[in-house]
Amino acid sequence: MPEKYIVKKSGVYWPSKAMKEIAYVNSEEIYKEAAKDPVKFWSNLAETGLLWEKKWEDKNAYVEKRPYFWWFKGGKLNFSVNCLDRHLDDRADKDAVIWVPEPLDEKPVKLTYKELYKKVNKFANVLKSLGVKKGDVVGIYLPLIPEASIAMLACTRIGAIHSVVFSAFSADALKARLKDGKAKVLISADGYYRRGKKEDLFEKAKKAIKGTRVKKVVMVSRLNKNRKYSGKFLSFEKLMKDAPDYCHPQTVNSEDIMFILYTSGTTGKPKGIIHDTGGYATQAYWTTKWNFNLRDKDVMWCTADIGWITGHTYATYGPLLNGSTTLIYEGTPDFPRPDRWWKIIEEFDVSVFYTAPTAIRMFMKAGEKWVKKHKLNSLKILGSVGEPIDEEAWEWYLKNIGKGRCPIIDTWWQTETGGTLINVLPGIGPFIPTVAGRSFPGTSHLILDDSGKPVKKGKTGFLVQESPFAPGLLHGVYKNHKKYVKTYWKKFNNKYYDTSDGAYWYKGLLRITGRTDDVMKVAGHRLATAELENAIDDSKIVNESAVVPIPDKIRGQVPVAFVVLKSKEPVDNAADLEKQIKKHVDKKLGPTSRPARVYFVEDLPKTRSGKIMRRILKNILNKEEPKGLMTLVNPQSVEKIRKIVWGN
Ligand code: PRX
Repeated sequence: MPEKYIVKKSGVYWPSKAMKEIAYVNSEEIYKEAAKDPVKFWSNLAETGLLWEKKWEDKNAYVEKRPYFWWFKGGKLNFSVNCLDRHLDDRADKDAVIWVPEPLDEKPVKLTYKELYKKVNKFANVLKSLGVKKGDVVGIYLPLIPEASIAMLACTRIGAIHSVVFSAFSADALKARLKDGKAKVLISADGYYRRGKKEDLFEKAKKAIKGTRVKKVVMVSRLNKNRKYSGKFLSFEKLMKDAPDYCHPQTVNSEDIMFILYTSGTTGKPKGIIHDTGGYATQAYWTTKWNFNLRDKDVMWCTADIGWITGHTYATYGPLLNGSTTLIYEGTPDFPRPDRWWKIIEEFDVSVFYTAPTAIRMFMKAGEKWVKKHKLNSLKILGSVGEPIDEEAWEWYLKNIGKGRCPIIDTWWQTETGGTLINVLPGIGPFIPTVAGRSFPGTSHLILDDSGKPVKKGKTGFLVQESPFAPGLLHGVYKNHKKYVKTYWKKFNNKYYDTSDGAYWYKGLLRITGRTDDVMKVAGHRLATAELENAIDDSKIVNESAVVPIPDKIRGQVPVAFVVLKSKEPVDNAADLEKQIKKHVDKKLGPTSRPARVYFVEDLPKTRSGKIMRRILKNILNKEEPKGLMTLVNPQSVEKIRKIVWGN
């Protein structure tokens, strides 16, 4: 019988004796200990968790000049050495990465630490041969294939900054990111498999680099091994064949930039979130170890794509820093059938499984029968991330995947925080549906009202983080100081890091209520209303638009667009126009941002100062009586929109 890791006491789940026994952390003391001196606490974690070439002086363990701050200043290290070289003595032949391709007739690939080390060294030499130097930005536009981890790690070996762009993003979205980062080199692939079909990346990469500073594009041949490249395009496989086996690791400062990752904010333009090296590595190492109680024999499967922060920290870096095995899967969860994921867990003895509520809801819909086909006895810990998990999905996850024996660790964090920050630890508990938990030891969060005062018990307010700020927290917005200050610090006068999330206290634990800005979470992906509106407005036929999120049973939220066309003629081909708008969004941003519905309206409700009242549109969509019409300059627009949405 597989071990039972949780027990129910007075209606609440707690870690069982078996979990307490195997847990790295099983006493609340750790929180108190860390809170006494968080800087000392984190310094100790940094020193014991990582391999440093040079230690920092104690007085520089944490330096703060708000809104900036630095961890382990003066400390020197190389990140790839921490993921690879230091495991070679005792883990050389252990699997570092298990890659499962989507086509069933293709064999999974296992790379041991020794093999991964060799490939990373080789590719680091390839990058050097292409002129990439410490501090240069390298774009990575790859699907979930081992070469993605190799490319990322190779950048860290030579101190180059990687900027990964989600492979389902459009050419335009890639171009914008390459331009902003001034990337010199791009690493991409000819394509990948998605739902049994070949998806092209080559044409998108080709289109994206026009007008950027990209001089060379290294292409992985995923679909066609014999593909020939020319001009700026070079073959990954060919370059690797000729590259030397060893590349001396570049020493970097703890506070040097390791990567940038673009994410949606409240404006139309995505922001390049900066992560440093030493602080990020420390948080990635310890949160992976403690949240998921990662032991040497564990196989961790974090289902996120490398295009997102979760894919960086928990599908790649966290497990490798810990010398563990990470599993990555190229394809869609339900291909060819809705039991693909469970089949993978069974086949590869996955013990830690980390996914998003949207995926769980999709499987709920598919039905329990698909899960029942497979033994999931290897599972030990389940994780959830990306959006609040509703009680129904939580219970289903626990019952069907966790078989009532594995704890669910609901982790709250953000692209900006680099690693998890609010959750319960598996050896401590309690595990309560919809409650994320408490601040990771050595960090502290408060809930404030508009004036910056802590809210009363049980009241919802703004979730902020107080100093000393977590080691993994962002170190700025790439080349945009103003945006950094305005987005994260201004609201509370540089004193606290503003998460832009709402929360309230529930029995001493934090319950997250969702974003307080104009950012929505669509199937766990972050999307700004402004970003989508910009993309829609860019269409030739559109005059202006407004986007609002509505709840969706599977995807959490989906965007709905209200569009005013340039033509004043009555709309008699709405279905065609809707298709046209959706296609345009696919081109500008990618299909993940596509609106679920487009309504064509004559006018959008606006205030006298010209502000679009999205709240009223939300009221209409929710079939509520719109409020606050008095402030509108065009109240008559509301009735007309209501007729379009509700019908006459
Ligand atoms: O609103 C919060 C939500 O996701 C946002 C961050 O999104 P992103 O930068 O894409 O990173 C997602 C993966 C770390 C947060 O501001 N969020 C994330 N995790 C949770 C969550 N909301 C509730 N519960 C969570 N566990």
